[in-house]
Amino acid sequence: MIKNICCIGAGYVGGPTMAVIAKKCPHIKVTVVDLNQDRIDAWNNEDLKKLPIYEPGLDEVVQEARGRNLFFSTEVDKAIEEAEMIFISVNTPTKTYGVGKGMAADLKYIELCARQIARVAKEDKIVVEKSTLPVRTAQAIKNILDHTGNGVNFQILSNPEFLAEGTAIEDLFEPDRVLIGGDTTPEGEKAIQQLVDVYANWVAKDNILTTNVWSSELSKLTANAFLAQRVSSINAMSELCEKTGADVNEVAKAIGMDSRIGPKFLKASVGFGGSCFQKDILNLVYIAKTYGLNEVADYWEQVIVMNDHQKRRFAKNIISTLYNTVSGKKIAFLGWAFKKDTNDTRESAAIYVADDLISEQAIISIFDPKVGKEQILLDLNYLETRSGEENNKYVQIESDPYKVAKDSHAIAVLTEWDEFKSYDWQKIYDSMLKPAFVFDGRNLLDKKELEKIGFIYQTIGS
Ligand code: NAD
Ligand code: UDX
Repeated sequence: MIKNICCIGAGYVGGPTMAVIAKKCPHIKVTVVDLNQDRIDAWNNEDLKKLPIYEPGLDEVVQEARGRNLFFSTEVDKAIEEAEMIFISVNTPTKTYGVGKGMAADLKYIELCARQIARVAKEDKIVVEKSTLPVRTAQAIKNILDHTGNGVNFQILSNPEFLAEGTAIEDLFEPDRVLIGGDTTPEGEKAIQQLVDVYANWVAKDNILTTNVWSSELSKLTANAFLAQRVSSINAMSELCEKTGADVNEVAKAIGMDSRIGPKFLKASVGFGGSCFQKDILNLVYIAKTYGLNEVADYWEQVIVMNDHQKRRFAKNIISTLYNTVSGKKIAFLGWAFKKDTNDTRESAAIYVADDLISEQAIISIFDPKVGKEQILLDLNYLETRSGEENNKYVQIESDPYKVAKDSHAIAVLTEWDEFKSYDWQKIYDSMLKPAFVFDGRNLLDKKELEKIGFIYQTIGS
């Protein structure tokens, strides 16, 4: 039975996943390691409000397990040496250079981990791919481990993570399924069973699915492609609804009641964001192209094309509605995170909408309950559309939603934070320039109430 686990990468996946394993398996010592000292310090912070990740319920889990059987450290070698099972949960961003630039997954962090494990390990280990990886990556990891290691035996398992941010803890407590892929040899099957036994501490056996490594790796990319495709499909319909007098919420409800379609992931929006969907689809497209499957590649790429269009047309609509110019006009942003209940902003639609509006010289005033100034400027500067100083000139970041609204021409809702619904919208209206516009990128607010107050309210898909 596994007694000692280590996880390399203390990010949005490694942190919550290992915290939950530690909570549910008090007999297993779980050590999460990372190169980033600040991140580890934040995980060890006494003040649970200062954990590096905001995720409902995470603080309680950390409080229970931290110091008991859950540890956060930068001593990567030591943790690798001690562990029988090593999860790799490092980032796998889209490549920004060289072959496959803008499309393929950058596997340099994965390779570094594999080389480090090979160098340090003196006893047999099970290495678990928790990061989302291109299909057949396990082969590359195995080659590195077998050729540069100390002659010890490694088993590579694929155990992709399906949690969504904002609901990570509930997703981890009650996963729809846990997927474990491994070699079909007796040693591979033994390793799979050892990981099954870890999850079986709290997940019903029927919900733990075992497959070969390649099916497991590819299933993760497939799941994200299917989910993102649903969002792009409903977003495509939202534009058609706007032209035809149909209402996308009604359409979504009507089709979602068909049990073959189902009601989830049919919310039209300003476009999907997050660190996974775009990256993983691009990765899938790249793999398909590598095998010469151009139709397969084009089919999935269209999901991204539609998403880019959705973000862009939201910004365009603001400009054309505000009499074709936003130059010098203050536009208030409610929300910056890519969805509610997270402080993560990676690929958030808000970044792209802000960027387009700044190009038209709008002044963007931003409030997000969990995202601060430094992150917002980093996100805008990362696009390299203009200099940091210039971004700074056009962006105001406030910690009070009523301040962002004051003297603005329009409010744009970019994230569906619950608290936005209970604001004093009369007070907001009174403080704005008239006519006062609301562009609701999340179909969040009450149209009737806002129109009664006097707002000109526009939403997605109606
Ligand atoms: P993240 O950027 O939040 O965390 C990755 C961490 O790994 C960083 O803290 C980084 O410092 C650390 N790291 C990188 N190289 C390292 C090394 N050699 N040694 C030690 N630490 C190292 O990323 P994330 O969002 O947690 O994603 C991790 C993986 O999980 C990705 O492959 C992603 O696709 C996948 N995934 C993410 C989600 C999600 O919702 N974020 C969900 C499922 C799967
Ligand atoms: C996603 C997958 O859901 C998860 O299983 C995987 O492990 C990681 O990638 P995440 O990116 O955290 O999770 O959030 P998700 O809830 O999938 O939302 C992604 C984006 O799609 C968000 O910007 C969200 O606002 C948007 N979205 C989602 C919609 O616009 N409409 C919907 O109906 C659902």
